[in-house]
Amino acid sequence: MNANMTPTFDHLLLTQPQDNIWLITIDRPKALNALNSALLMSLNQAFQWLDSLPSTKVIMLTGSGDKAFVAGADVAAMQSMTALEARDFSSLGMALMQQIESCSAPVIALVNGFCLGGGCELALSCDYILASENAVFGQPEVSLGITPGFGGTQRLARSIGKGNAMHWILTGDRISAQNALKLNVCNQIFSPAELLKGGLVQADKIARNSPCAVRFAKQLIHQGLNMSLQDGCQLETERFALSFTTQDQTEGMAAFLERRPARFSNQ
Ligand code: CAA
Repeated sequence: MNANMTPTFDHLLLTQPQDNIWLITIDRPKALNALNSALLMSLNQAFQWLDSLPSTKVIMLTGSGDKAFVAGADVAAMQSMTALEARDFSSLGMALMQQIESCSAPVIALVNGFCLGGGCELALSCDYILASENAVFGQPEVSLGITPGFGGTQRLARSIGKGNAMHWILTGDRISAQNALKLNVCNQIFSPAELLKGGLVQADKIARNSPCAVRFAKQLIHQGLNMSLQDGCQLETERFALSFTTQDQTEGMAAFLERRPARFSNQ
C-alpha cells in the first residue's frame, strides 16, 4: 500500500511500521486523547478501512504523547449531555468496541500512560494489551456520577472476574501496570521506549502465520466467550474442519513436511 493512498481520519495517525502491520495513533494529546463523538466515529471508520484491506495482518493501537493512551471519554463533551444524547454517545462507543472485536485482523493495544474510563474500555476491546511501565489503568466513572458506558462493567468482569471488576469500578482506583499484569489485563510490560518495538515483534510473529487460521482463531475465542463450553467446542470443531478447505492449510502442512518456511496466501 502506497502511504499516499491512506485516507486521513480526524485525530488519528495511520502508519505502517512494517508491511501488513498498521499502527493507529490516537492524536489528541492536549486532551490526553480523550474520546469525543468525532473521535469514536473516526476510529470506527479507520478500523473498518484497515480491515477491508486484504493485506492487513495486524493492527496496533496507541495514544500520542508520552502521557496517555486515552484518559477516558471526553468529560467536557459529556458535561451537558441529555440522557438521550448520552445513550447515543454510549452506542457510538459500543459500536466501536464491537467493530474492533469483529475485525478479521488481530488488534493489539499498546498502552502508554493513562488508560482510564473509556480508554480502559477501548483497550479491553482489543485482542490483547501490552503496556509500558508508566501505564495506569482504571474505571473512575463513579467519581463523576456516571457508570462506565463503553462496556467496562461487562468486559472487565469477564476479563478479571466479578470481585476484581467490582473493586476497579466501585472504588475507581488507579491500577499500575504491574497490578494489571498480575490480573492478566495486560500480557507484558515494556519500558516506554521499547513498547512499540515489543508490539512489533509480536505483530510480526502473528503476521507470519496463516491469516485464515489467525482470523478463525480470533473469532473462535471471541464467540466462545459468549457460549457454553460445549457449544464453543462444537464451533471449534466446525472451524477446524473449515480450515482444511483453505490453501493455507495445504501450504502450511506441506511447508512443515518439506522443512521450509510457509508462504501463506490468505485463501
Ligand atoms: N476528558 C476531557 N479532557 C480531559 C480528560 C477527559 N477524560 N482527561 C484529561 N483531559 C484534559 C484536561 O482537562 C486538561 O485539559 P486543559 O489543559 O485544557 O485543562 C488536559 O487533558 C491535561 O489533563 P490534566 O491537566 O488533568 O493532567 P494531569 O496530569 O494533572 O492528570 C489525569 C491526568 C489523571 C488523567 C486527569 O486528566 C484525569 O483524571 N482525567 C479524567 C479521567 C477520567 O475521569 N476518565 C473517565 C471519563 S468518563 C468515561 O470514560 C465514561 C465512559 O466510560 C464512556
